[in-house]
Amino acid sequence: MTETKQSIHGAWSSRFAFILAATGSAVGLGNIWKFPYITGENGGGAFVLVYLLCVALIGIPIMIAETMMGRRGRQSPINTMQTLARDAGADESWHYLGWLGVVTGFLILSYYSVIAGWAISYVFKSLSGSFYGDGDSVDHIAKLFDGFIGSPMQLVFWHSLFMLATMAVVVRGVQGGLEKAVRFLMPSLFALLLVMVGYAMSSGAYQQGLDFMFDPDFSKIDGHSILTAMGHAFFTLSLGMGAIMVYGSYLPKGVSIAKTSFIVAGADTAVALLAGIAIFPIVFANNLEPSSGPGLIFQTLPIAFGQMSGGLIFGTLFFILLVFAALSSSISLIEPAVAWLVENHNITRKKACVWAGLLTWLLGLGTVFSFNIWSDFKLFDRTIFNLLDYLTANLLLPIGGFFVAVFAGWIMLRQHSEEELEIGSAPAYDLWRFLVRYVSPAAVFLVFLNVVGVL
Ligand code: TRP
Repeated sequence: MTETKQSIHGAWSSRFAFILAATGSAVGLGNIWKFPYITGENGGGAFVLVYLLCVALIGIPIMIAETMMGRRGRQSPINTMQTLARDAGADESWHYLGWLGVVTGFLILSYYSVIAGWAISYVFKSLSGSFYGDGDSVDHIAKLFDGFIGSPMQLVFWHSLFMLATMAVVVRGVQGGLEKAVRFLMPSLFALLLVMVGYAMSSGAYQQGLDFMFDPDFSKIDGHSILTAMGHAFFTLSLGMGAIMVYGSYLPKGVSIAKTSFIVAGADTAVALLAGIAIFPIVFANNLEPSSGPGLIFQTLPIAFGQMSGGLIFGTLFFILLVFAALSSSISLIEPAVAWLVENHNITRKKACVWAGLLTWLLGLGTVFSFNIWSDFKLFDRTIFNLLDYLTANLLLPIGGFFVAVFAGWIMLRQHSEEELEIGSAPAYDLWRFLVRYVSPAAVFLVFLNVVGVL
């Protein structure tokens, strides 16, 4: 029976271990690198507000749904979907939802790894004192960044290193080394962000930074910004591709899924907001453009590290922690594929990792070159990196999430989701069910309609 079934890939040692792993998956480049730059590109406050609404109304209910489905299925998302569909007497083609997630995970990891590679390289740049220059520090840091991303060889090197690190962790099984590492890395990252916020307070533009983030000006957003905000809610919470589903499949019985989801989403949101509060004052104090794109944190934080006392240590530590945050996220992007390879092809975890890793690495070269030798190559008006980011975060994740909500709300038997969620109070369960049946899918649908101009 599903009640006592265990995943063949192992289980988390405790409720706390799951919270750490899921938070590790959620907190990553999405919070510290992506959230600030897309907030900058989309005008600040109003965008942040839409993002927060999406986390609450779409993200949290879907996170509960994904975790619950994973724990009930106890397999890779592809096989879990097949089992759950069968149990519900539904069509087994629901397992294509698992496939969609596997493909989405590969695509995301291919560029995620390149950016994480930037972060590794910045550890060494900080350590070697490269953030200190003669003359104008803004200019110096900008040149450092432009020179770096202009070099395909350097980017390939750091991207390769990050992919190797990811696969080294995944080989051991995500419950192995990572559980321990994340335990102290997450709190350290949080503490260091607080230090950066402290610096931002003294930058002279703290209030301006806060206003930018929290004073909504709705004339600054349109359908595309709303889509980006919603897409980011999925991205930052690791939803819509099976990552949380596969983590849920390693979750022991008896743990409250609703409670853990609130904790994970709360921690994730706190980290993103802190990152924004730390970065925007630096942007304004140095007359930089908030909308300068994916280079934003690499062009702002080093200025601060170059000016503050102890900057060499703080800078180095910060980028080290960022790399670990990225690592605890990247493994969840590839775990569904690896779990499926092991289940269905009877190959060792090691072999599965080698193949999955190689494929992702190769795909990642497209992103590497989109910042230099192929920067003029555009498809649908976008570079390869921009296209991958748009396709995955704005389209594939919301589509995946939509179907997760529909499955949990409409296809799964009420009795099964009730049993699995074990929410003691009936109104709380009913609220969740109402959200996944109506609110989350309708919201995703309306945002899509709005962007294609039907509304
Ligand atoms: N949430 C991570 C971040 O914010 C990225 C990530 C990990 C992810 N696993 C995912 C995004 C699954 C979407 C789906 O950096």
